Amino acid sequence: PAPGWSIEADVVVVGSGVAGLTAALRCAAAGRRTVVVTKARLDDGSTRWAQGGIAAALGEGDTPEQHLTDTLVAGAGLCDENAVRTLVTEGPDAVRRLIATGARFDTTPGGDEIALTREGGHHRRRIAHAGGDATGAEISRALVDAVRAQGLRTIENALVLDLLTDAEGRTAGVTLHVMGEGQHDGVGAVRAPAVVLATGGMGQVFSATTNPAVSTGDGVALALRAGAEVSDLEFVQFHPTVLYLGPDAEGQQPLISEAVRGEGAHLVDADGIRFMTGQHELAELAPRDIVAKAIMRRAHERGTEHMYLDARHFGARMWEERFPTILAACRAHGIDPVTEPIPVAPAAHYASGGVRTDLYGRTTVPGLYACGEVACTGVHGANRLASNSLLEGLVFAERIADDITSAPARRPGPAVEPAAAPVPLLAPEARTAIQRIMTAGAGVLRSAASLTEAATALARLQRDAAEAATTAAQTAAPEATPTDRPKPAEPGVEAWEVTNLLLVARVLVAGAMRREETRGCHWREDHADRDDAHWQRHFLVTHRPPHTLHTRTTDTAA
Ligand code: SIN
Repeated sequence: PAPGWSIEADVVVVGSGVAGLTAALRCAAAGRRTVVVTKARLDDGSTRWAQGGIAAALGEGDTPEQHLTDTLVAGAGLCDENAVRTLVTEGPDAVRRLIATGARFDTTPGGDEIALTREGGHHRRRIAHAGGDATGAEISRALVDAVRAQGLRTIENALVLDLLTDAEGRTAGVTLHVMGEGQHDGVGAVRAPAVVLATGGMGQVFSATTNPAVSTGDGVALALRAGAEVSDLEFVQFHPTVLYLGPDAEGQQPLISEAVRGEGAHLVDADGIRFMTGQHELAELAPRDIVAKAIMRRAHERGTEHMYLDARHFGARMWEERFPTILAACRAHGIDPVTEPIPVAPAAHYASGGVRTDLYGRTTVPGLYACGEVACTGVHGANRLASNSLLEGLVFAERIADDITSAPARRPGPAVEPAAAPVPLLAPEARTAIQRIMTAGAGVLRSAASLTEAATALARLQRDAAEAATTAAQTAAPEATPTDRPKPAEPGVEAWEVTNLLLVARVLVAGAMRREETRGCHWREDHADRDDAHWQRHFLVTHRPPHTLHTRTTDTAA
């Protein structure tokens, strides 16, 4: 839809988690007119839900080099080593700057040092945490407070629809749909020569996820429609220990942080037998993909859907002081971890892939940046190391802000109308259908057959939406559409979210079909081994309107 109103800025940041707000604060501090646009409220994204913490070589005896090694091992041969080196060397100071901004981390009993815990894949205590298990909430609080204190312009409850570009194909801003009252109501535009996508993940593409309802792949879908390259979407990380609420559980599920295992909890089967010992030198603290697979295998052997996390030996006091959020979530669902093991199963947690960027967050579209979960900087490879995500958001947001502000400020070029026809919208009801298709066909365990079925079902949804749009265009009165023909979706936030979900689901499934191996968090039943000879490379996908996807491949350090 054509924008009804427009404002101008130097930088528009889309998203308000650790990545978006860090970039925005730094751009504003350098004197750039910065606008933050966010789909719900400022603190509604994934950052707020992060529990375990933020990884950085802050402890005595730890070094960025050791952090690098653990990250590369978890990434299973697909990390970009330069990106990881940037992350781990700049990480400790970035965390110190976050503390200077106002984030309060838990400290050791004397109060003079940051308390550090362990998580899967880390050979050292390296994870800083806050409020016990409410690290993301504290980071979010500190950054939102700073944004308010500095008087940054924010537009809440606004879904960004598409990138605006000028005649040279450079970024010229975004169009957005604002829900609710006020001067910004309806479809408008923020015109700016630099756009930072920090929209988070796409966990809502699956039925059960740790992600909040807003994680619908909007940034990846926007980038695809804008012609940017997207990479590694097949690497969806399933968190091994999510509270199991039954086979039909849908939507956001309570996370049981890996830090619970970091502090000594055991994974056991229904007979109380530990099954991670002997499988990996780190046992319950093996990288996430290994633990998730072990849980699934054991559950399959035992004919059940879940395993248990046993931390009764922590006792009530430790549970209350160290893991108050998790304790409350379990009790709210009738489980008391002080007296009983917690039923757990893997659920979709993190998109290791995303919009391809360089080391300054630059995408393949000039002026368009991506940061945080929406981005694929190359630091995660085939499987993200625990607690590297908040750190990635922080470090690369700073680099993006420095890249933007090191160039002279300039006005955005005049935006041109897109040459391609608009993408047909899906009806909101298709959300559940997409989630079920993806969970059945492209979940933890995949095969050529399951993926083909998913691809076919997604293509059918795409075809129906296109047919409905064509019918609507040809029919003066859409309500007169014959009942046996698909009805066009009404434009609105839910329809755009589902349309975004479909596009990212299609790219994810295409990558998962093509990658005929098992690597990191991509697990193929029909190709059980890692195959470096053929697949130690990335798929770089671009979208050709209205529906076609084009893929090229690159070697590891793309
Ligand atoms: C957790 O607390 O287990 C999640 C940490 C992460 O996803 O990095």
